[in-house]
This record gives sequence, structure tokens and C-alpha cells, in this order.
Amino acid sequence: MSPDTRATIAEQVKCDILPKNPVLENANKAKEIARTFISDTVTVPTPEMYAYATLATTGDDVYHDPSTVALENHMAQLTGKEAALFMPSGTASNQIALRTHLKQPPYTVLCDHRAHIDNYEAGGTAFHSGASVKAVVPSNEHHLTLADVEANVILGSDIHFAPTEVIALENTLNGTIFPQEEIIAISEFAHSHGIKMHLDGARIWHVAVATQTSIKELCEPFDSVSLCFSKGLGAPVGSCLVGPKDFIKKARWFRKLFGGGMRQTGILAAAAAYALTHNFPQLERVHALAQKLEAGLERIGVEITSRAETCMVFYDPSPIGVNYDEIAERASALPEPLFLGGSRLVVHIQTSEAAVDDFLALVEELAQEKKKAGFVKLDVPRKANGFKDIYVRRVTKSSDN
Ligand SMILES: Cc1ncc(COP(=O)(O)O)c(C=O)c1O
Repeated sequence: MSPDTRATIAEQVKCDILPKNPVLENANKAKEIARTFISDTVTVPTPEMYAYATLATTGDDVYHDPSTVALENHMAQLTGKEAALFMPSGTASNQIALRTHLKQPPYTVLCDHRAHIDNYEAGGTAFHSGASVKAVVPSNEHHLTLADVEANVILGSDIHFAPTEVIALENTLNGTIFPQEEIIAISEFAHSHGIKMHLDGARIWHVAVATQTSIKELCEPFDSVSLCFSKGLGAPVGSCLVGPKDFIKKARWFRKLFGGGMRQTGILAAAAAYALTHNFPQLERVHALAQKLEAGLERIGVEITSRAETCMVFYDPSPIGVNYDEIAERASALPEPLFLGGSRLVVHIQTSEAAVDDFLALVEELAQEKKKAGFVKLDVPRKANGFKDIYVRRVTKSSDN
């Protein structure tokens, strides 16, 4: 190859992905993140997190990078399990866990009908494990109970049915906390029938903070647990699957098979370790901000449909005559916009208090405008059968002017 050809190929291959002004661009992004209530996955690494991450080992993790192994050992110890495995995502962690538990079809995975594994993992449970899913609606509308599980579990050897092989719970689920006594009762029932227990603990950190329960105690009733670093804890990438030694050994095999065997993961593991040390203690402030949101909305007359038990609040603004689109439109038109995602408000470690104040002021302003325009709430009592209140916008003559 001539030097000219070599230079031409190098010219074709070379690449610069950085924005013109990275400092400004990232500063603007940070402002946007502080005002984003859509998800806690939007959080970004800080310069301090980056600085710590650059000091990690640079081994190839398919052959056990030391910093990644150190994180895995820490996670095994923290959760009280024998072993741990660093994963590229929460979806990979959950799906590889299920694939490792599920060996020979037919079988069913029982979970809450709102579970991430059933709704937001692209049908992975059927695709990867050939399992059917029994998605159960909790009778108390909050969390599954032992009675719900007993009513929906599939036991026995009738060949018409696919027996329940795994019960997969989620904690938190939509920001709500699964009572530990109920988890223990379900776990005892499951294990007495040889059923495995998996926990999607993407946000188990929040439960530990809100209930002051150790991570180990929260994980105890489960055979396997998936914990995420890239949501509430604010690391850029990564989750961890924990469980018995043999289980993790097999999961490592499936991780490779699924294409999730990563190479120089030390910087990612170090970012996760930084998040455990420095970001976990911030969750108390996060929960307090979510509670401030909830209290403010209630004061204005907005209905809270799922309480701020941790970092999320679900709300319905129809009692003040407002809909989500109106709020989102007004929020995006602010000099410093707010970014919203419908009925769910998520607070994270990079949410600013000003964003919470501005959001509440905006909803209050809309409520006042509607009131002036003649909106009244009709007091139709909520029925036991679940029918909602009826709200109307009554347009009076004066409001037409
Ligand atoms: C409860 C829960 N589990 C699992 C996941 C999947 O995580 P990932 O997006 O890293 O695949 C998410 C993602 O938000 C989640 O909220």
C-alpha cells in the first residue's frame, strides 16, 4: 500500500464527535437535566466521577478486570449473596437472571402486571427464555400479596399448564415500596414449592433509604437480585446481578452469549463505585423533594394517584380543570423550560429545588386561570367500584369575555 493510499484511508476513517463548544454544551445539558422530571436515567457523570473513574484498572473484563471484580465482590457482600456480575444494563441483568433460572420449558414467570420485565423489556422473557408470563393485578392496587400469588401461581403436573418457575418482584415499583413482610411471605411460599425468587431491584437503593433497612435484608428473600447504578445512583452505565456462585457462573456464560461480555469496564465499575459512595447519600434529599412536589400539588387541588414513597409522584390535574398537555406546553414555554412526561414526575440527584418550585408555580397559575375562566369541580363522590370523580369545565358568560 502506498503512503498516499494509507493517508487517504486514514482520512476516511478519522472522526471527531465533539461539539464545537463542549463546555457550554454540557453546561446547557446540566441545566436541562436539573429541570427534567421524565426519568432518573437522565443524570450525568460529574467531573469528580470522571476523575475517579480514570484511576480504575484497565483490564479486559472477559478475563476479570480487577476494578470490576472489586465492584462485584463489594456488591456480593453488600447484598449478602455469594457472587455478583457486572452487567451493561438493567434489562440485560433481569433477562440473563431469568434465562439462568429457567432451564427446561414449559414454565411461567409470575410478576406484577406493571413489572418492567413484562412491559419494557421488548418481550425478552418470551424471546430469550421461552417463558410465558403471568402478569397479576394486585388486589390492593399497590403491591402483590401472598393471596394474589396463591390465586395465580401454577403448581402441579397437569400438562395443560406451564408451571410457575420464577416469581419476579420489583422494588421499588413505580417509586412505591414493597412491604418486606409481604415479600418474605411470598418468598417462603415460593421456596416451599421449589419456585425461584428474582428481584428487579433497579431502585432498591431508594427502599433502603426510605425504610432504613439494609440492602442485605432487602435482598435476603430472593435467589437473585438485579441492582442498577445508572438510575437513582447517577452512574452513566451498569447494573449488577447477584446470587449463588453457580448461578452467577452460568449467568456469566449467558452474558457472553447475549453479547454482553465487555472489555475495559474498569472505568464503568469505578463510576458505579463512585455513585455508591457519593450519590447514594443524596437520595434522602431526593425523597424530600418528591414529597415537596406531592404536598405542593395537593395544596393546589391536584389529585395524587401514586404517592411520593421514594423518588416518583404520579398525579392527575383534572380536578383543577387542567390536562397534561397544557402543563407540558406551558412548561416548555418557560424562559428556562421544564421537561415533563405526563402523569409521572421523577426526582433525581440532579433535580434542582428551583425546578420543583417553578413546576408548582406553573400548576398554581394554570389552576387560577381555570378558576377565573369558570371551572368548577363537581363533587361526585368516588365510588367503591373504582369510578373516578367527574370534573367539568363550566364556561360562564363572564369567562367568555
Ligand atoms: C425497574 C426497572 N428495571 C429495569 C430497568 C432496565 O434498565 P436499563 O434501561 O438499564 O435496561 C429499568 C429502566 O428504567 C427500570 O426502571
